[in-house]
Amino acid sequence: MKKVKVRLGSNSYEIHIGSGILMHTGRQLKENGFTGSLVIITNPIVKGLYGDALKQNLTREDFRVIILQVPDGEEQKSLEVAGRLYNELTNFYAERTTPILALGGGVIGDLAGFVAATYLRGVPLIQIPTTLLAQADSSIGGKVAIDHGQLKNKIGVFYQPKLVITDIDTLRTLDTKTLIDGLAEVIKCAVIRDKELFTYIEGNLDKIKSLDDRALEEIVFRSAKIKAEIVEKDEKDLGLRAILNYGHTVGHAIESASDFKVEHAEAVTIGMLAAAKISNKMGILDKNELLRLKSLIERAGLPTRIPKLKVEKIIQAIKHDKKILRGKIRFVLLKSIGSVFITDEVSLSLVEQILVDWNEET
Ligand code: NAD
Ligand code: GLY
Repeated sequence: MKKVKVRLGSNSYEIHIGSGILMHTGRQLKENGFTGSLVIITNPIVKGLYGDALKQNLTREDFRVIILQVPDGEEQKSLEVAGRLYNELTNFYAERTTPILALGGGVIGDLAGFVAATYLRGVPLIQIPTTLLAQADSSIGGKVAIDHGQLKNKIGVFYQPKLVITDIDTLRTLDTKTLIDGLAEVIKCAVIRDKELFTYIEGNLDKIKSLDDRALEEIVFRSAKIKAEIVEKDEKDLGLRAILNYGHTVGHAIESASDFKVEHAEAVTIGMLAAAKISNKMGILDKNELLRLKSLIERAGLPTRIPKLKVEKIIQAIKHDKKILRGKIRFVLLKSIGSVFITDEVSLSLVEQILVDWNEET
């Protein structure tokens, strides 16, 4: 098992990454000083795969456990569902000291994290991520949120977990698409901060896709380390943490211009390439680096062609974000793989030209 420490003073915690560690959760929680009652929040899919077995493990370790379920899907990240969970926690007589275990992907992590942060003004949160996206990114750093109307992830708080238990064996039951979508986040981590990780993914892509233990542990561990390092430096997202949004300026615009028909991972992948193309056109990034990124994205099975959308609609969506960001549109640009910087000096006409020319050139 590998450990990553997130150093945030009294809110510090460890991320445990390994194979088969889910079934040691009870012992681990005891070592962290927890006793008594526990609440697992999950969905029916993950409950069937891991929740029931986890409950048995915890019961054997003398915990009193209930599993609260929400249906699968992003739409569950709502105030209404949080409200229902508050009622169920009350019925279980959950107290300030009763930990909530968020067992699932990013949806469960965000929702259960939001509930943990707000119920009784905060109960201990344990993240147990079971998708690659959640293991590499969303379970770390304390951003917990729900969606509200058009506001995606905008109603929330920073609330750090007490512990993150990342069992890479859980990735074995993911469908290929969810695994590859998560890989987009891992590639993003490599691009912004870790050229060696990028090279590792290039050299071990087949192993990653065929769920080789060591390869999965390596990419999750290195991504977790990158995320932890960034969060330590900028917990409240006031500066450096924005680099985690590499690819998101154009990515968000594509999602919103398509009325969210283009999925997040696909949109962000195009956004990552767009940011690299902008960097290249501005003379900051070498063309070979751009081609390397494009080639890895293609080999990973992620899209490199822009979805059929009117370029004006994408530009309109970027302008809409610009209004929200007080007239500044922020891009994360690439100097080389592993090194990025934040700027508001990108002209929208350049972005437009890149999008118009997209499918004709490399
Ligand atoms: P998800 O949670 O919807 O999970 C994807 C699918 O995989 C679901 O159907 C889920 O039931 C299923 N699943 C989960 N674990 C499984 C397993 N081990 N085996 C089989 N199936 C499994 O999606 P996601 O991609 O994990 O997360 C997306 C969410 O994460 C979004 O809501 C996004 O806003 C959020 N997010 C949050 C942060 C953050 O910092 N808090 C960062 C990035 C994304
Ligand atoms: N996933 C973006 C962040 O945690 O800041």
